[in-house]
Amino acid sequence: MKGNIMEIRNVKGTHDIFGEDSRIYEYIYDNFVAFASSYNTKHIIVPVIEQSDLFQRGVGEASDVVRKEMYTFLDKGNRSITLRPEFTAGIVRSFIQNKMYATMDLPIKLYYCGPVFRYERPQAGRYRQFEQLGVEFLGSDSEMVDVETISLAYNFLKSIGLGEIVVFKINSLGDEETRDNYRLALKEYFKEHLENMCDDCKNRYELNPLRILDCKVEDDKKYIVNAPRINDFYSSNSKIRFEKTLKALDLLKIPYVVDNTLVRGLDYYSETVYEIHFKDEDIGALGAGGHYSNLIEELGGPKLSGVGFSFGIERLLSLFKDKSPYYKQVIEQEQIVYIMPIGEESVLKGMEIASKLREEYIPCEMCFDNVKFGAMFKKANRLHASYALIIGEEEIKNDTYKIKDLESATQIEVSGEQLIDKIKQLFFHL
Ligand code: HAM
Repeated sequence: MKGNIMEIRNVKGTHDIFGEDSRIYEYIYDNFVAFASSYNTKHIIVPVIEQSDLFQRGVGEASDVVRKEMYTFLDKGNRSITLRPEFTAGIVRSFIQNKMYATMDLPIKLYYCGPVFRYERPQAGRYRQFEQLGVEFLGSDSEMVDVETISLAYNFLKSIGLGEIVVFKINSLGDEETRDNYRLALKEYFKEHLENMCDDCKNRYELNPLRILDCKVEDDKKYIVNAPRINDFYSSNSKIRFEKTLKALDLLKIPYVVDNTLVRGLDYYSETVYEIHFKDEDIGALGAGGHYSNLIEELGGPKLSGVGFSFGIERLLSLFKDKSPYYKQVIEQEQIVYIMPIGEESVLKGMEIASKLREEYIPCEMCFDNVKFGAMFKKANRLHASYALIIGEEEIKNDTYKIKDLESATQIEVSGEQLIDKIKQLFFHL
């Protein structure tokens, strides 16, 4: 506090991404877009606010996300509005509303990135506003489209140096028939334990007993471990579908383990679901997704299936910093030219050169502090500049400038006429 002026802090559970982190964020995003594009996936931007009904119907009344975690408010027109707690429902809404299914070839493949909001208890890797990056492939029921999303996620992780240290936990929640039978079996099993379980589980028992398997209450876990497993209830179609899926993953050499207890926290899934984890330690899922056969229809669209996944960027970012072999390269890759003028006239000359370099998309920064060369070089190093361009009175008089390669500490002299071309050559290795 300064005098009586109170410093305003960020809202609990939110955070700023800047400096090295925003550099890595961009790197992650760029790689993701490159991979998504290689699967012919197109960008979609949907609103942050949607009608609350969308998530109640889409994500499911029994899910913790809808029951406890949504940022919901009445707007000035008395409409119930929710800050999106995830992307899938909003994208499906857009797919239906814009009749994409009628005008484009299916599946429509979309990627997205942006903030999502959940009122959760903040802790390491868990925020109330966080960033998601993901895809939805809409309009095909083929299990090979499910596999394509998994392979996209895996190839992207490989491209940022995390491929070797992740594992996909995968399960099938089966079709309608499978889940109907499984729900009955769960109800039968939990009936006698229910009075000793938490209130949430009592609720889940009525709304969607599968949700009980996702309960985080320690005392309830002893009942959950012995609950019936879904794999004993698969219909023949679901069994064959899941076998084909795993076979394709084997072929593509995607590291996975089957985990029959995986049910996911959102209610729209059927058939294949998956989560992507760091294999050495539980730091929460890096990303997750799965197939949904009914969501499009339940939100008022045609009977079509979809599949998709979302990564949590904060979790990717922190694992990248800890473990990726590319980390150092990414933060040091800040290729810039640092322009070092001595004297007023040199500053103006420097600005003229800077403007020409920027026209050629060469990032540069100029020193405006009236300091000695030594201090300028130190700053150039702190900025990880690749080259320093030295401009003094002598240089202007002779129209010859010094370019210093800061890594090899070698220096060349270039005439004013050739300067921009020379830096371009060095910069882009022409
Ligand atoms: P989700 O599992 O709820 O799935 O979230 C996906 C990812 O978002 C998680 O794996 C995690 O990395 C990140 N995440 C979730 N909550 C938080 C939090 N509070 N703080 C930081 N990161 C978090 C979905 O959202 C589905 N829409 C995924 C999907 C797409 N399914 C089909 N298509």
